[in-house]
Amino acid sequence: MVIELVDLKRQYQVLREEIMPRIEQVFAGMNLFLGENVYRLEEEFASYCGTRHAVGVGSGTDALHLALRAVGIGPGDEVITVSHTFFATAEAIVLAGGRPVFVDIDPATYTMAPALIEAAITPRTRAIVPVHLYGHTVDMDPVISISRKYGLSVVEDACQAHGAEYKGVKAGALGDAAAFSFYYSKNLGAYGEGGMVVTKDREIATAVQMLRNHGTRERYQHELLAMNARLDEVQAAVLRVKLPYLDRWNAARRTWAEEYSRRLADLEEVVTPVAQAYAKHVFHLYVIRTPERDRLQKWLKSHGVSTGIHYPIPVHLQEACSGFGYSPGSLPETEAAAREILSLPMYPELTMDEVTYVCRTIRDFVHGKKARRPKGAPSSVAREVAAG
Ligand SMILES: Cc1ncc(COP(=O)(O)O)c(C=O)c1O
Repeated sequence: MVIELVDLKRQYQVLREEIMPRIEQVFAGMNLFLGENVYRLEEEFASYCGTRHAVGVGSGTDALHLALRAVGIGPGDEVITVSHTFFATAEAIVLAGGRPVFVDIDPATYTMAPALIEAAITPRTRAIVPVHLYGHTVDMDPVISISRKYGLSVVEDACQAHGAEYKGVKAGALGDAAAFSFYYSKNLGAYGEGGMVVTKDREIATAVQMLRNHGTRERYQHELLAMNARLDEVQAAVLRVKLPYLDRWNAARRTWAEEYSRRLADLEEVVTPVAQAYAKHVFHLYVIRTPERDRLQKWLKSHGVSTGIHYPIPVHLQEACSGFGYSPGSLPETEAAAREILSLPMYPELTMDEVTYVCRTIRDFVHGKKARRPKGAPSSVAREVAAG
């Protein structure tokens, strides 16, 4: 059995008949950016997140960068975030003129450990960027109370957390502003690039509207030096078709996550993901942890199962970040996680047979049933699955 880490073709087959006419409509009208689809999507997504405003931009990276500029981040400002994230989190801080300051993670959830934030605050600290990684929200109450105590802005990196919740409040509605990515493999993904800033604050929304469009409110009147980071109409049309399915898709992800966790529960060598009581986890990724990670990944690959590592090199140890003063050992939990984590196939259209097969293959690995078999013969796992 061949199982991809993410298979987007299955979803497209279901949505094709809804999506193609909407794309055709955009082409027929030739109104290709900042048109009806973008503005309607902004309203729909703001309402979904429970924020007043949403501003469509070109990518999640643009969303983070422009949200940070909109809350006032500029040269010399320090922004506290995590190193266990996709590289773009730090990149956006630097693009805004700031300097990332990394704190370690809570090893249970792989997200920012709020207890470590205060020690990282200096007179130059201006903002905190909590990252709701893998679809699990950061423990936000302490983050918000620290931000109030020190007068810091909070910009959520919700790029992996469409529909996730913290104590019943949606990711995106927890900080001063939040950034979403519509990268094609996200829980809500476009068919190209896209992103969104959501906020309850009108001034932040207006600033992002200007920043995404060369600093203008009126055409050819440039009030700010900014950039082009507009969301295009084709992507917005696709996202408007997909948004009403998001909750169903997240529910399916949660079901597969439960199945994985139930079937792997008794394996001491495999740590399955935790969802804290405060969080509604939407499993953008289903990430297990094992000291045998590299061997398990090879074993799964040799049995047709694709996996991923999100992320193998922490941001603070990336060559591009060598000027920020970190070295191996700076963030022990982050570095340990990077050595041991493994993302299993996760998407709403998985089947029970596929989840069963992945779990049996892992169980075989753990139980050491790795007897050599003649070339071309099905593995014991494949025979078991074929036999039902
Ligand atoms: C946590 C996180 N932050 C930021 C981004 C950047 O989003 P994009 O790829 O749309 O620029 C991503 C997505 O890849 C992400 O996963």
